[in-house]
Amino acid sequence: MKFRDKVVFVAGGTSGINLGIAESFLAEGARVVVLSRNQDKVDAAVAGLTSEGGEAMGFAADVRDFDALSASMAATAARWGAIDVLISGAAGNFVAPAAELSANAFKTVIDIDLLGCFNVMRAAHEYLRKPGASVINITAPQSWLPTPMQIHACAAKAGIDQVTRTAAMEWGGAGIRVNAIAPGPIEDTEGMRRLAPTAAAEKAWKESVPLGRYGTRNEIARVAQWLCCDEAAYITGVVLPVDGGWSLGGSSAMTMALSAR
Ligand code: NAP
Ligand code: COA
Repeated sequence: MKFRDKVVFVAGGTSGINLGIAESFLAEGARVVVLSRNQDKVDAAVAGLTSEGGEAMGFAADVRDFDALSASMAATAARWGAIDVLISGAAGNFVAPAAELSANAFKTVIDIDLLGCFNVMRAAHEYLRKPGASVINITAPQSWLPTPMQIHACAAKAGIDQVTRTAAMEWGGAGIRVNAIAPGPIEDTEGMRRLAPTAAAEKAWKESVPLGRYGTRNEIARVAQWLCCDEAAYITGVVLPVDGGWSLGGSSAMTMALSAR
């Protein structure tokens, strides 16, 4: 029960990697909040989280809507007090060549991923525990590896990395640590269903990972927990790949994997 009674807020926490992170903190005694756009999905996530005990609640809000985020953070603090752990992981992605991408499509991903990440951090700031809070943004290796058909996600995630580093500098004095995790390809996620929709593509992706397999949600969640523990108390401003070495292969491996779609 490493996180007993700690308050953990997970933006984009109703499915996939982020829900896995929420589940793992709840299992360690935390009070968990999940937020995403769809009320039914929020309700299902909260029901799943609390099915074996523990305290969780959810909010239906879009990370592009700053006021709705602020209201969710205020309601969380009113019920449970200061936020100890903030995970910002809401994202949207699809595969599209730059020359065919509309301006609105590019903007949509920037707005959800990058502006949304800033909004989540900015709205949470007044409610974060000072000192002691830990913020983790979910980025991706596309933030430093230029990747064909991912110009929108590459740009958005690169922005998240700099938001992470800059906030780490500004908020360190208040005792808030800000880090990012860059997951490699993770099994059973919407992200990989979109990037590798066929068996051939999945095989190519796995072959592009030095460890030879997709990662698991639990492998991301364990690192997220570690980053929030005292063991990592002197770590801030880091973008940590948790990717089986996948990003070592560079964009060529990713290009091969994407072209096998
Ligand atoms: P996912 O299940 O689709 O998770 C995305 C979450 O964000 C969902 O809860 C989604 O719920 C929410 N969301 C999307 N748009 C939102 C918005 N505008 N406002 C509020 N919430 C919103 O996908 P995932 O594959 O697990 O990805 C999770 C994170 O890991 C993302 O940041 C992704 O970029 C990153 N990542 C994933 C992989 C991978 O292998 N899957 C690899 C590297 C990085 P609603 O749609 O219901 O709102
Ligand atoms: N290829 C090219 N353009 C696309 C696209 C695709 N596959 N999917 C959407 N777009 C474009 C739309 O055509 C629209 O542009 P337009 O107005 O010029 O036609 C723009 O993107 C916005 O689409 P819209 O459906 O209105 O956006 P939304 O805010 O409702 O949804 C998405 C955002 C598109 C990212 C949607 O896929 C989503 O909600 N994803 C969340 C889940 C997810 O992506 N998970 C993986 C996380 S890594």
